[in-house]
Amino acid sequence: MSDGLDRNLPFEAVRVTEAAAVAAARFIGRGDEKAADQAAVDAMRQALNGLDISGTVVIGEGERDEAPMLYIGEKVGKGGSAVDIALDPLEGTTITAKGAPNALAVMAFAEGGKFLNAPDVYMDKIAVGGGLPDGVVSLAEKPGVNLKNLAKAKKCEVSDLFACILDRPRHEEIIAKTREAGARIQLITDGDVSGVIATTRPETGVDIYMGIGGAPEGVLAAAALRCVGGQFQGRLVFRNDEERGRAKKIGIKDFDRIYSMTELAAGDVVFSATGVTDGWMVRGVHRIGAVIETQTIVMRSATGTVRIVDGKHDTARKPGLAKLAG
Ligand code: FBP
Repeated sequence: MSDGLDRNLPFEAVRVTEAAAVAAARFIGRGDEKAADQAAVDAMRQALNGLDISGTVVIGEGERDEAPMLYIGEKVGKGGSAVDIALDPLEGTTITAKGAPNALAVMAFAEGGKFLNAPDVYMDKIAVGGGLPDGVVSLAEKPGVNLKNLAKAKKCEVSDLFACILDRPRHEEIIAKTREAGARIQLITDGDVSGVIATTRPETGVDIYMGIGGAPEGVLAAAALRCVGGQFQGRLVFRNDEERGRAKKIGIKDFDRIYSMTELAAGDVVFSATGVTDGWMVRGVHRIGAVIETQTIVMRSATGTVRIVDGKHDTARKPGLAKLAG
């Protein structure tokens, strides 16, 4: 049996997401999604390449021919224990460009072969927090049934439930069905990793996450819930044969399969997210004189430890970080 990941990896993960967040933060509110994303990608790659790991990007910026950096299959690190990496250097490019809340720099480590090799397509997702009976909600059920079962398990009325859903035209039906069932909805403009994690935190008031978002974000959200508790299911959503072809190439055989949380992220998992803009989970990057402040949530599935790490970085003594911050 494996001993899991090196127990110091969570701290290395913090450094990596901190670097990406600091670099992206230069572009908060500048209306330039591409520049913000590129800055986060460059910084995350540089930070990963400074670690004593033999890392393989499993969930990354896209396939090799379309992503010059942090592409799926890219090897990172100076050498050391083998780890697989799922990453989204800037989860919330539009939110960052608009200066809106909840943009994050996100990554996760797992032992080799433990993340689903998910293509960069959409994924239908459903998630609830911890302490509920197994299978209380399922992608195989209609929203009304899931909400009824969830209300029963939570010993409340459906009208007490709060669902989080991405505000997209494709969700017209699920939004209508949820309201018809009597539940309330928090419509988010972007950032479903944060939306999924919100189900695990009572202070958000969010009871259930439903709807279609990115598949890479689905694997990252599953990794987070493996650490903190909760239930998650995902089903890949293909819009055309080109997407099916890409999935086939990386080993996906059953296009309709509903993946459980552990099929998406198994074994020992480390998850780290640093705030870029202020959010409900972590504060964003702030500069106070020569000091850059960061806040990161980092957690590990083997131990269930959740840490909130406040970083105060003195730019006078960290020229590398000062350069990232611009
Ligand atoms: P990006 O930062 O990569 O743009 O992702 C933001 C996001 O809202 C994700 O959280 C979500 O999974 C995905 O986009 C939804 O995709 P779309 O914007 O195409 O509906």
